[in-house]
Amino acid sequence: MTARKLAAGNWKMNGLAADLVEAEALAKAFPSPKVDVLLCPPATLIAPMSAKVGGSAIAVGGQNCHAVESGAHTGDVSAAMLADAGASYVIVGHSERRTDHGETDASIRLKTQAAWSAGLVAIVCIGETLGQREDGETLDVVGGQLAGSLPDDCTAANTVVAYEPVWAIGTGKVPTLDQIAEVHVFLRAKLEDRFGAEGAGIPLLYGGSVKPSNADEIFGVSNVDGALVGGASLKAADFGGIIGAL
Ligand code: G3H
Repeated sequence: MTARKLAAGNWKMNGLAADLVEAEALAKAFPSPKVDVLLCPPATLIAPMSAKVGGSAIAVGGQNCHAVESGAHTGDVSAAMLADAGASYVIVGHSERRTDHGETDASIRLKTQAAWSAGLVAIVCIGETLGQREDGETLDVVGGQLAGSLPDDCTAANTVVAYEPVWAIGTGKVPTLDQIAEVHVFLRAKLEDRFGAEGAGIPLLYGGSVKPSNADEIFGVSNVDGALVGGASLKAADFGGIIGAL
């Protein structure tokens, strides 16, 4: 059993300074939420968002980090820099980064270790494509990504796993509740096999077209400990509806 559920919002490449009003509104609407609440804005907004919601129940996170702490890596941001800007979490291995930037399980594993070194909780993303699901490869794919992307020292405190079927991201298509349950039960068993009692406590998020209208039924699925939300996390009213369903 995981300790607390987590509602994590991923703003992706959306958001300017003016949009920080949404983070402020969320902090006002949820002074003491029943679940952990996290917003991951673009890197440019981590420091100002942290300043706006500092002292509230809203945590701030990054969307990616480099595997090393500093050096000649133009355009990259390290986990230490994210932490310095006020982040306490970082998403690693999102499918958009696996696709757009050729990230591999091996590189995601290194980024996860870098996140831990900076004191951040790593949210490690995995998920199958539509073709892989149609070919009956879903469990093989997510099992392989899980094994390859997670370092050996995962604990319930330093790691979150997000199952995001690639075909459900930003499409409005959501797996059936049975399909979500099948994958989450499988992932929970794999985590327990590898990490024992710690694996039983690692939060397992579902992500992919979560909205206020479907959050309640998704959160009712066994082994779903929260959500990684994209589009519906941009507005406080929408994300608030999801937080309220947890
Ligand atoms: O990180 C979030 C996921 O990619 C889900 O995005 O809620 O817009 O489908 P979405």
